[in-house]
Amino acid sequence: MPQRQILVTSALPYANGPIHLGHLVEYIQTDIWVRFQKMRGHRTVYVCADDTHGTAIMLSARKHGISEEQWIGQMSQQHQQDFADFHIQFDQYGSTHSSENRELCQQIWAQALAKKLIDSRDVQQLYDPEQSTFLSDRFVKGKCPKCGAPDQAGDNCDKCGHTYSAIELIDPVSTISGSQPEIRSAPHFFFQLEKCREVVEDWIARPGTLQSETANYLRGHFLSDRLRDWDLSRTAPYFGFEIPNQPGHYWYVWFDAPVGYIATTWQWCQSQGENLNDWWRNPAAEIHHFIGKDIVYFHTLFWPAILHTAEYALPTRVHVHGFLTVNGRKMSKRDGTFIRGRKYLEHVQPAYLRYYYATKLGDNQDDLDLNIAEFVEKVNSDLVNKVVNLVSRCAKFGTQTGLSARYPDDEGRFAYAAAQSEVIAAAYDAGELSKAMRLIMELADRANQFVDQAQPWKLAKVPEQVDRLRDVVTITLNLYRQIAIYLAPVLPTLQQQSAQLLGEPLNDWRLAQQPLLNQSIGTYAHFMQRLDIKDVEKMIEETKQENAAAAAADSATTTGGGATTNVDSDAAVLAEPLAAECTIEDFGKVDLRVARILSAEEVPEARKLLKLVVSLGGDQTRQVFAGIKAAYNPADLVGRLVVIVANLKPRQMKFGLSEGMVCAAGSGGAEVFLLSPDSGAVPGQRVH
Ligand code: 2FM
Ligand code: ZN
Repeated sequence: MPQRQILVTSALPYANGPIHLGHLVEYIQTDIWVRFQKMRGHRTVYVCADDTHGTAIMLSARKHGISEEQWIGQMSQQHQQDFADFHIQFDQYGSTHSSENRELCQQIWAQALAKKLIDSRDVQQLYDPEQSTFLSDRFVKGKCPKCGAPDQAGDNCDKCGHTYSAIELIDPVSTISGSQPEIRSAPHFFFQLEKCREVVEDWIARPGTLQSETANYLRGHFLSDRLRDWDLSRTAPYFGFEIPNQPGHYWYVWFDAPVGYIATTWQWCQSQGENLNDWWRNPAAEIHHFIGKDIVYFHTLFWPAILHTAEYALPTRVHVHGFLTVNGRKMSKRDGTFIRGRKYLEHVQPAYLRYYYATKLGDNQDDLDLNIAEFVEKVNSDLVNKVVNLVSRCAKFGTQTGLSARYPDDEGRFAYAAAQSEVIAAAYDAGELSKAMRLIMELADRANQFVDQAQPWKLAKVPEQVDRLRDVVTITLNLYRQIAIYLAPVLPTLQQQSAQLLGEPLNDWRLAQQPLLNQSIGTYAHFMQRLDIKDVEKMIEETKQENAAAAAADSATTTGGGATTNVDSDAAVLAEPLAAECTIEDFGKVDLRVARILSAEEVPEARKLLKLVVSLGGDQTRQVFAGIKAAYNPADLVGRLVVIVANLKPRQMKFGLSEGMVCAAGSGGAEVFLLSPDSGAVPGQRVH
């Protein structure tokens, strides 16, 4: 078998939230495929990175009162720990906010300019006046201009697949502030995708590049029309790489994100003394991307066009998978099925999820359902009852007898399983993991039938049968060994445990062709416990509670979001019990008014304070010092409506006179959430 050279990637996770079980479908699928290729002896390199740019990350960092670099640093650590604990083994894990990525983006950009593929023109964009920011496509929602579906994002409709510009949305709303965005104009840079049509079409038509459903989708939805120019710049404020010679303009995150695949390979090359061109400009090297069906558009239209422009090789194959559902429904925070990887690990072993996903994955975009009852049943009946039971029933006799010097007659069992090696390998290679698992479990059934008939526990009681016992053990443990090898890409822990027991590393696919003989056997310690459904239920219950608490916190910061008020946690009220009762007259003494923030600035000498000037309408203004510096960027506050205590006795502070108080919730520091009235309220109105 000629050795292949294979570069593999999974989609780069956004550095804006934890890894959840939905993400893990892809990383587990890819990791299994990579481990398999490595066991087959192919030179395989698996790279991934955090996807670190964009408005969402900028806003998260702001919300937490830290720099974007700090935010993405924390995220990267968490992501890498989660991946490691699910036994997802990258050869290199990088970040799109790296010097290598910046340099590659600059090179690619220069080539696109030289090839006259970039066009610049003013575009109208949605602007959130309350947040003082242009709204990227993810931060606006509205009705699809083509089919009218509600709640669609600013770039494409997930109901009809139509792509459009955010200003075409009907009744747009900013999802950051809930306000109605304005249309403002700014220059943008466009990649003229239509000029690359031929390259993209040829690539899509290459056999093996795409699953046929992906190719059909592209032909039906995009290629049947002129390919739209791709807007790949964003205007400040934005967290990303500034475009050379274009101050205030940044590359759109989707430009630099896939370049992160190359940048991370480059980092790996540097650490290994390899040459990047051997991986990205070598027709003999394969490039495989694993992605979800939601990002097909970026990987199969723009990405090949960009790669071609910069004279890199085009991907060999883009493997597209579907979404995760739980118990037949979309993952939901309210149902507790939006489960973080870390939460899962607190309750259940990673091997079980790896195996279950493998039994459900094929080379297609079908959604994958994590059915809790089936999950428990499969793990217990396949892994515990078939695989682990096979070895546990024999290992202790093996420790006594060791393996025989010659392989005994087993009526063709070992030979059959050895012959299945290529059938199973072909299934793995084609991404038909569920088929591979079925074939392996069939071997486990056959091996268990042999043990049932041979009954080593009876032979062990008769001293004269020791030779037969050794033969039975030799056959059983060799049949088990084949299974452990075939399952190794899915179950690396079982692989290690088995390797220790059998005294040889089970890291080469070809080992399944020859029996292991004349070998002493280590001591068996239980490889796997039965999965108890109670543990899974506990994980879901805890997730439900945590999500409810997070939703309660979110609803305090978002005026436009759908708050889940009937599932709010009582943590906040327990932390700060209600004050003593007051009368309506007491309350009437406090004059709360709607006010508009006219200006906001830092007070250099004060760690926590911002100086605000607010308007109560007409020429009535107040100067207020508010302890909200860690939670808000002054520029974001200007123009925003708040509620103030307007008749508070003025107080002379070191920095000036404070003539009121801005109402806010939260525990202080970065956890401060200003109160905003619903739209329609005007400055000066009293709050009753
Ligand atoms: O969809 C996502 O989560 C993106 N962060 C994937 C990026 S993949 C690649 F292009 F970088
Ligand atoms: Zn639509």
